[in-house]
Amino acid sequence: MEHPMSVGGQPDHSQGIAYIDGKYVPMDEARISILDWGFIRSDCTYDVVHVWKGKFFRLADHIERFQRGLRGLHLSLPLTGDDIAKIVTECVRRSGLRDSYVEMICTRGTPPPGAPRLPTRCVNRFFAFAIPYVWIFTPEEQAKGAKIIVSSVPRIPPDSVDPRIKNFQRGDFTQALFEAEAKGADTAVLLDRDGFVTEGPGFNVFAVVDDQVFTPDRGVLEGITRRSVLELCADEGVPAQVGRLTAEALRNADEVFLASTAGGIMPVIQVDDRILSNGAPGPLSNRLRRRYWERHDEGWHATPIDYA
Ligand SMILES: Cc1ncc(COP(=O)(O)O)c(C=O)c1O
Repeated sequence: MEHPMSVGGQPDHSQGIAYIDGKYVPMDEARISILDWGFIRSDCTYDVVHVWKGKFFRLADHIERFQRGLRGLHLSLPLTGDDIAKIVTECVRRSGLRDSYVEMICTRGTPPPGAPRLPTRCVNRFFAFAIPYVWIFTPEEQAKGAKIIVSSVPRIPPDSVDPRIKNFQRGDFTQALFEAEAKGADTAVLLDRDGFVTEGPGFNVFAVVDDQVFTPDRGVLEGITRRSVLELCADEGVPAQVGRLTAEALRNADEVFLASTAGGIMPVIQVDDRILSNGAPGPLSNRLRRRYWERHDEGWHATPIDYA
């Protein structure tokens, strides 16, 4: 029988390539130990960078954030930023993918046999993979705009789990997604304990009020797409402010959009029962979204990949 991921007898790499234990393997052969604390304790950090039309977008910024995450969680790897860049590039190159979602992960690993079960004793591990580009909302969905709720589930407090370090402790997001689906919405944003907007499962949140853009300053991952949005606003002469945002301000905004590596700039047309900009993506959200992808084509923050 033909291997399920083989095409015409050749291994099919189009579903992606992973880097595990120093080897590059097709995605369906990528396995880790189930005893790794990354798996059994969510004790890990990660980052996701994308490749668009054969070029990484802001690769150095993603690696820098990943390395900050490592330091923040007392994880260490015998890899420099350049080593990491080479590994993720090789994953993409071998996959042949021109549009790719590229993840790097460092797990706590396991303590050596007989050693105390303490995080300080664990041997940390590095994994990476490149798979086809992932959209939180597809371009067709983005053209219609997303419906979101302000979840009743509060975001995990930042002094318990620092949201600036990318992590898999997403129990709050998972509950919020169940709530969103039950209410007929596509996704959710979460508030902090003081009632201010934070972020949602995989994205930062922006409100447009009187032609000005606002995004939360705390309790969030400092998204690389968020940084790109702020740069685009500066280039386009659109005033942007990073500060506190209430749920009320979000519901009453002229426009709302979400931003993530997995999908770019994604317009919102409804927050709870409130319909925004007559139920269609707003003009500024559309303009920023268009510019975001146009700038990709112009080589903005791009690192081309040599697939040869
Ligand atoms: C919780 C959270 N907030 C925000 C983001 C957006 O970050 P970036 O733009 O770097 O992808 C992500 C991305 O995965 C995320 O998981």
